[in-house]
Amino acid sequence: MKHFVASLAAAALAVGAGSAVAQNEMPFGSEHDVEYAELLWDAMESLNIAGEDRVTGLPYEGTQPHGMMLETFYTEATVDGHTGDLIVKNNYGPEGVTVDDVLSNPDNHLGAVTVMFRREEGYDSENQDWFWVRYAADGSIANNPDGVPMAGRVAAGMDTGCIACHQGAAGDLVFTSDHLAE
Ligand code: HEC
Repeated sequence: MKHFVASLAAAALAVGAGSAVAQNEMPFGSEHDVEYAELLWDAMESLNIAGEDRVTGLPYEGTQPHGMMLETFYTEATVDGHTGDLIVKNNYGPEGVTVDDVLSNPDNHLGAVTVMFRREEGYDSENQDWFWVRYAADGSIANNPDGVPMAGRVAAGMDTGCIACHQGAAGDLVFTSDHLAE
């Protein structure tokens, strides 16, 4: 009996270790990715580009998948001691929403906040070291249809997701790169 219990425990350990490895191999959605995304949201709040005291700009007409009205901020932020480029895109909706609707009640129309943050060199060398995250309006991290949090290298090596689509943009994976401060 003792032996049986011990081997059960060993099996449980092996399963645990196996899934930890699998998680490390996942390009996004790990516990660490989620924690990092939470720190990033805090940094965005202190810069007043997210949360209750966020500043708003003049939204412009957008396209799918980002929403009907967009607002994009380009700046830098420091997360966990690392400073990098930060691009925040506010995605407003629903379909048919106008500039006036958004301006009169930005919070009511904010559908999602999609963010690119340039991490330390080597984080994702093939994809310009961007950390990708999609937040709901309240700062919680959105899940993809499989229930995986969309934070991290979303989705390196896959045919769909932030990276696959943004690879269609020139060099830096940024569509609106003319706005980026060099
Ligand atoms: C199907 C294509 C597509 C997918 C998928 C996509 N994007 Fe984008 N993204 C765009 C386009 C097109 C723009 C430029 C929109 C504009 O005119 O402002 C853009 C702009 C952005 C910007 C502003 C910087 C830039 O490139 O101009 C950020 C930040 C961003 N996306 C984040 C994300 C994140 C995070 C995800 C995944 C959760 C994502 N995007 C998924 C197409 C996509």
